[in-house]
Amino acid sequence: MTEREPIGVVGAGWVGLVTATCFAELGHRVVVREILPEKVQSLRRGELPIHEPGLPELIERNGERLTFTTEMVELLDGPRLLFICVQTPPTYSGDADLSAVQRAVEEIGEPNGKALVMKSTVPVGTGRTIMRDAPGLAYVSCPEFLREGTAVRDFLEPDRVVVGSQPEHGWAADAVEAVYEPLGAPIVRTDVSSAEMIKLASNAYLATKISFINEIANVCDEVGADVTEVARGMGLDPRIGSRFLNAGLGFGGSCFPKDTQALKILAGNSGYHFQLLSAVIEVNELQKRRVMAKLRKHLDSLVGKRVALLGLAFKPDTDDMREASSLVLAARLEGEGASVVAFDPIAEARARELLPSVEMAPSALEATDGADAVILVTEWPQFVELDWAEVARRMNTPLLVDGRNFLDPEAVRSAGITYEAIGRPSLGDPGSRVAPGDARARDSATREMKEEAER
Ligand code: UGA
Repeated sequence: MTEREPIGVVGAGWVGLVTATCFAELGHRVVVREILPEKVQSLRRGELPIHEPGLPELIERNGERLTFTTEMVELLDGPRLLFICVQTPPTYSGDADLSAVQRAVEEIGEPNGKALVMKSTVPVGTGRTIMRDAPGLAYVSCPEFLREGTAVRDFLEPDRVVVGSQPEHGWAADAVEAVYEPLGAPIVRTDVSSAEMIKLASNAYLATKISFINEIANVCDEVGADVTEVARGMGLDPRIGSRFLNAGLGFGGSCFPKDTQALKILAGNSGYHFQLLSAVIEVNELQKRRVMAKLRKHLDSLVGKRVALLGLAFKPDTDDMREASSLVLAARLEGEGASVVAFDPIAEARARELLPSVEMAPSALEATDGADAVILVTEWPQFVELDWAEVARRMNTPLLVDGRNFLDPEAVRSAGITYEAIGRPSLGDPGSRVAPGDARARDSATREMKEEAER
């Protein structure tokens, strides 16, 4: 193998670790600078601070090409390309907090012949500001499009790689392009601001798709159609596409909620009211609450009731609890007087800190013990395999709300459990079935749901 460009990565968070490890897999020597000494020590021992399928194996295989350090100087002595992979969490106002980016830029300074490659998601204009303040540094915007849980595959088999630069930093953009070239993906060469906008617009569009299908699901609840059938029929049109059309409790995680807010604020600050995106965010917030009305349809009051949450993480294959629907649901249930018990295969440790009053069960089955309702919050594949007859025996009231339209309704119902889903009214318990187009069937529960969502 020909000698490949050495690379520096700033930040050993989720993006930084996946990026650094995948570059090592492509044959690069990678130095990762992480500010937290304890993190560096555990990484040197081979312990990973995050759960990401496939990553431990890849780190082990490429260990000799990966170096972890707390010292920025080790990066500055070596590679030309410094990939910035630090967090840009939302501030209270919803703007992106760029303090970690600013600190990294200050620490790097303006050493000769180096390029700063921005992987972190930043507001449009950030690159322009950095280029103005550090004119001695070349700058490239190369946003990441990784999904938690499938990040390694997303990195090694990308749909596209976006490389944004100004003409005077063309050498740096060429070098970044050469790094990604073996992956064989289309490379989008563009200017810095457009590259920054591609990232924000992509996340905002995907979030819009989710809120759109959730609104369709809510209408399906009213008119007796099945949103999963609707999505199947829509998705076969290649102009629409079937991905990101799963209705449910809405989007969470560290990216969509943050990036939709950030884009809305960015537009607002520049004098444009991004009406559509405001609605996307609002629909997402209300969506989590619709479950409450579905519960009330069957349980007169939640006071003193025991409700089990299956899954806590914002999605499967991660232990990430940021903006997880479970947080909103648990607070809402407890606020209405219910006690909450939960099970998640891997997010329990992180969840404990955020949900101190929620009882953590050792297994999904045990979570259902004595429960008056079960809500499926995260679509962990193992939940499909649950013994529903056993669940029914253990529950106090056999009621299940499938917040992700994930389970086989027949399997659940044949065990004698009342099954409720999102936008699939005809699959409800026989007593609450809604005939398609039957106006009389839009029962009080639907009205109640609307009231709940508006509350
Ligand atoms: C998202 C994007 O998909 C990545 O391309 C992007 O790189 C990343 O944000 C980021 O900006 O770093 P991620 O947040 O890991 O990735 O997770 P997704 O798989 O996109 O799911 C986000 C949320 O949407 C989850 O809560 C998921 O349950 C929900 N979702 C997703 C739905 O409710 N319905 C769907 O059809 C798809």
